[in-house]
Amino acid sequence: MLVLGIETSCDETGIALYDSAIPAPSRALLAQRLHTQAAMHEAYGGVVPELASRDHIRRLLPLLEGVLADARRSRDDIDAIAVTEGPGLVGALLVGATFAHALGFALKIPVIGIHHLEGHLLSPLMSDDPPAFPFVALLVSGGHTQLMQVTGVGRYAMLGETVDDAAGEAFDKTAKLLGLPYPGGPSLARLAESGDERAFALPRPMLHSGDLDFSFSGLKTAVATVARDAGIATAASDDRVRADLAASFQRAAVDVLVAKSMAALKGSGSKRLVVAGGVGANRLLRSELAAAVLKRGATVHFPALEWCTDNGAMIALAGALRLERDGLPERGDLAFDVAPRWSLGNE
Ligand code: KG4
Ligand code: ZN
Repeated sequence: MLVLGIETSCDETGIALYDSAIPAPSRALLAQRLHTQAAMHEAYGGVVPELASRDHIRRLLPLLEGVLADARRSRDDIDAIAVTEGPGLVGALLVGATFAHALGFALKIPVIGIHHLEGHLLSPLMSDDPPAFPFVALLVSGGHTQLMQVTGVGRYAMLGETVDDAAGEAFDKTAKLLGLPYPGGPSLARLAESGDERAFALPRPMLHSGDLDFSFSGLKTAVATVARDAGIATAASDDRVRADLAASFQRAAVDVLVAKSMAALKGSGSKRLVVAGGVGANRLLRSELAAAVLKRGATVHFPALEWCTDNGAMIALAGALRLERDGLPERGDLAFDVAPRWSLGNE
């Protein structure tokens, strides 16, 4: 079965074609294309929702044509469409959903709505060595930070989540404070590589809270306060000081993420940890988690770097796995909806 995946929930337009008849996950992905709007939003220091929606409109059709050409398939070969219907920016989601449902109507094929986080969560299954169910998942993106117990496709139980900012959001806000360009996470991580992570003492929020929840909003403020007390004007200070601040921040955030992930493994008795979402690309997080699971006799699975941030492949995969589980749905009526806020549970 050929499943077309469409992702437009934020500032990336992603399209992918997945063949669910081919068992090995990595080979089942026939083609994928991605357009990132980062350069367009950079001037504003963050995503401008209206600009994002308009750009998705311009990109979708050429990306679809490109993916079909890459895969040497035609529109008529597509059996079903999977599209991100939430959570995300409402306008951006509507563009993708309208495109998907119009295409589904024209081709007379079913369209299924996918939860964006389910896409992230299942993306490690595209690796050559996919994790088996059950596993504990650490979802760390720009909008979410959650630990989940995953027992199968559509079987997700929340173990803990952030009570305020997401980990990626904290990276982005701290990067902005240090005068780094958008998107901040990768630039902060790059700067941190040349810094001393012990230079500044920053808090590890909720490290000893006894539960699996997180809090990251205070970290950015702590960076600002520590810098102010040391008489440093963050964005204007010299590169070495900024690198030290970046490294100290990164270490604090990673320490909490690693400790809570290990507590989740311990509490659930699971031996498998799966990391997904944009912050999963962070090198310190990857190496620290790898070392920590080794000590526990457990394993950690990361998606390939290209699948950490938003893409159409993870949505096509989630669609294919749902269709495998539930079979092809009837084509419903033409009504559809998007859900800017939508919590992931058992569905
Ligand atoms: O999963 P994602 O593409 O978007 C959401 O669904 O939110 O994640 C984007 C987030 C951004 O906050 C970005 O700064 C962060 O992931 N990010 C990183 C790194 N690469 C991306 N954060 C830390 N280190 C990185 N290397
Ligand atoms: Zn995402």
